[in-house]
Amino acid sequence: MKQALVVGGDSVLGSALSEKLRQHQWNVLSTTRRKTSDPNNGFFLDLSQDPSFWKIPAHPDVGFLLAAITQVKECEKNPVLSSVVNVTNTLVLAQKLLEKNIFTVFSSSSLVLDGSVQYIGISAPVNPQVEYARQKAIVEAHLLKMKTSACVIRFPKIVNSHDVLFQGWIRDLKKGIPIFPFSDLNFSPISVGFATDVLVEVAKRKTCGLFQVSAEEQISYADAAFYLAKKLNISEKLIKPLSGKTQDPLLKLWPQYTILDSSDLIKKIGLKIPKIDNALDTILTDGMN
Ligand SMILES: NC(=O)c1ccc[n+]([C@@H]2O[C@H](COP(=O)([O-])OP(=O)(O)OC[C@H]3O[C@@H](n4cnc5c(N)ncnc54)[C@H](OP(=O)(O)O)[C@@H]3O)[C@@H](O)[C@H]2O)c1
Repeated sequence: MKQALVVGGDSVLGSALSEKLRQHQWNVLSTTRRKTSDPNNGFFLDLSQDPSFWKIPAHPDVGFLLAAITQVKECEKNPVLSSVVNVTNTLVLAQKLLEKNIFTVFSSSSLVLDGSVQYIGISAPVNPQVEYARQKAIVEAHLLKMKTSACVIRFPKIVNSHDVLFQGWIRDLKKGIPIFPFSDLNFSPISVGFATDVLVEVAKRKTCGLFQVSAEEQISYADAAFYLAKKLNISEKLIKPLSGKTQDPLLKLWPQYTILDSSDLIKKIGLKIPKIDNALDTILTDGMN
């Protein structure tokens, strides 16, 4: 039986991935920084501390590096602490895994690209606009320079049926309360189910290198809200689109184009690039109930 180590087992992606790996008959070990977690179900690891002396549990075939400070605002506010977690100690851990010949998968972000070009290819230079993305870009570059058995995947927004923003919209819409989604912010989301399919396929094949994936179209957050309201049979009049870029200086840096050229990865792992509906319908699996 293959064994995986999921670093950041409590993350949205990590918990869904652990479940998917088990469905594919993998033995899954995961890390947690929550001291209250069941010690049998998670190996304690806090990446704000140097993991040099952390003992890798058992000998996994694959290690997934998913733990991170993921909030763009938090990274902007605390660049030093977030860099310790997201860069310095992530790289120390990566090095440890790679030294033991454990195939290592790093979850990066589409935000390492500035989104000024449509369908941007994998060879385009990175141009991160926010601290979170700068940190991802540094880890990407180091891992790829190591030329070892590592895989870096740039993900777009990954959505799931518990997403706070979208479930908040659905709750308000159902109560007849207006919502104010941004009309000038685009995204090309994928569902957490598709993201975990990608990670499992990459792990099975030990596909090395830099890859990226996104939905095959882009949509504004406002249009996503209209889509959800229509599906829920709720009046579109409750949707009051706003400009995000005039609300928040950070949002001014949001990419104009969010579709990534995913062909390299898709060719290698044999999955189909998903349509946006696939992700938006995932949001509704709870919202419909
Ligand atoms: N979700 C997306 O849309 C998306 C898109 C592109 C890339 N990614 C990347 O994919 C990975 C997973 O994303 P996600 O959205 O599933 O993450 P998430 O739900 O925000 O969870 C982040 C995880 O990192 C853990 N963490 C934070 N600080 C830590 C520390 N000092 N030591 C150890 N663990 C720490 C958190 O622990 P607690 O649970 O205890 O807080 C949490 O489990 C991240 O690397 C993220 O950057 C995500």
